[in-house]
Amino acid sequence: MNEAGMLKSAFLCLVVAVVHRPLIGQTAPAARIKIDTERVIGEVHPHLFGNFIEHLGRCIYGGVLEEASPLSDSDGFRKDVMEAVRRLGVTILRWPGGNFASGYNWKDGIGPRELRPVRPDHAWGDLEPNRFGTDEFLLYCERLGLEPYICINAGLGTIEDARQWVEYCNESRDTYWARQRRKNGRHKPWGVKYWGLGNEIDGPWQLGHKSAEDYSKFALEAAKAMRRADPSIRLIASGSSNFGRGADWIGWNRTVLQYLRTEIDYISLHTYIGNRDNNFERFLAASRDIDERIEVVEGLIRAARSGLPGARPIYIAFDEWNVWYRAVGGSEYETGRTRLEEIYNFEDALAMGMFLNSFIRHAHIVKMANLAQLVNVIAPIFTNPKGLFLQTIYFPLAEYAKQRNNLALDVLVSSPEYKPDAGRPLKYLDVSATYNSGSRTVYLNVLNRSEKMDIPTRIVNVEGQLSASLEVWELYHTDLKVTHTFGADDRVRPATRTVNVALQGNAFDYTFPKHSLTILKVTLK
Ligand code: AHR
Repeated sequence: MNEAGMLKSAFLCLVVAVVHRPLIGQTAPAARIKIDTERVIGEVHPHLFGNFIEHLGRCIYGGVLEEASPLSDSDGFRKDVMEAVRRLGVTILRWPGGNFASGYNWKDGIGPRELRPVRPDHAWGDLEPNRFGTDEFLLYCERLGLEPYICINAGLGTIEDARQWVEYCNESRDTYWARQRRKNGRHKPWGVKYWGLGNEIDGPWQLGHKSAEDYSKFALEAAKAMRRADPSIRLIASGSSNFGRGADWIGWNRTVLQYLRTEIDYISLHTYIGNRDNNFERFLAASRDIDERIEVVEGLIRAARSGLPGARPIYIAFDEWNVWYRAVGGSEYETGRTRLEEIYNFEDALAMGMFLNSFIRHAHIVKMANLAQLVNVIAPIFTNPKGLFLQTIYFPLAEYAKQRNNLALDVLVSSPEYKPDAGRPLKYLDVSATYNSGSRTVYLNVLNRSEKMDIPTRIVNVEGQLSASLEVWELYHTDLKVTHTFGADDRVRPATRTVNVALQGNAFDYTFPKHSLTILKVTLK
């Protein structure tokens, strides 16, 4: 964005702030949030703000890499995209897939680019030019200061391929694959720590889809072989992605955990959501499924580890998540090179807060989460050969990422409820909180998922005295369906302001606007 654009967007923020300033302390509170900094859930691991790039559509070719473009550096990496990634606060990057991983031969993607083979990609139906491979991915991560996370081919690939991949990346001695790496320009080992044992192998759509037993036996032997190549690596088993009717997602995880409980460090979970029936409040009720999936898997982990007190801990890597339901086939942005180019609206931006609130509420067990994906393909950054725009979902992601390393707090919430379906009632306020003990700041993340109702709330603090001045970050728009495009990515922007509240002892009242996402930053004396 140029200077004029930034001025315009600052003006818009101000207008939003003035027009929509919520009432403070003027209405009887309908909700209550109690903060206690001693009720710590766990550290908000920096890897909760992970991301993912796949050889799919224009994610890598046209997003990450655009050779011979004036917007790219000498390695062909799009500089404008790298800058947007930096500002997004990404910490860890998963690659090469996704479904693509299950047909990928990593050996096609190393060595001189002009000698690399073009292969059909049977996951997405494209031709894979292999101009972006292991060394390019790892260089990209190094440039951006991101932790790389490589997913092996547990579909059509072999255990020996996976073992050799670790050797290529991490071996320091004079072995065959370390020599190949050196020949390709990288002397010292890349030191890749995070390795996924395949992608969505529970899904019948996956190349090399397997039964839970067959996958577990493969993954167990792959894990052992990969650890022989480098004992320090961390391994992520392919957990559930298939929640369709008739799919036994709990059984899959139970079997995988039983076989792999002494070998893995994480089990993955994937979830995509969509507002298919155009019902805003039902759309944002998906936190129930997200919470439940996490809690069920946590229980399965505990069951698998019980009786093994010395075994390594196992965490959840929620390594694919997002809103994805429009770009699934049919129109211009859905097929061929432009497939999965979802254009996000304001309500999708609110859904980011819902997912992240759930991860924070489970910060003791969810230690990694990767938005799918980074650029163009179901992504917060959208490019064309001339530039980029930031999608609506970019802004909450960037703001929440500032809470990395804080302590997640267990806050008590009472709120008006609704019944999104025939099931149990759900609170309109979806809340998480984190605490930075260094600056003594509490971050209260509040999604008001009522379409019609502002919710006056009493906020009560238990430990330490609240100060009357607080920082407000607010994402609000009158139009739930507003989207961004090239030259117009300032429609949905956060408003920020400092507010002085009327303290009543160690409490104050604040009204959360209807369909909004608010982060209150409260300091304690
Ligand atoms: O992120 C898009 C696709 O969604 C991934 O390739 C796959 O793992 C999931 O089904």
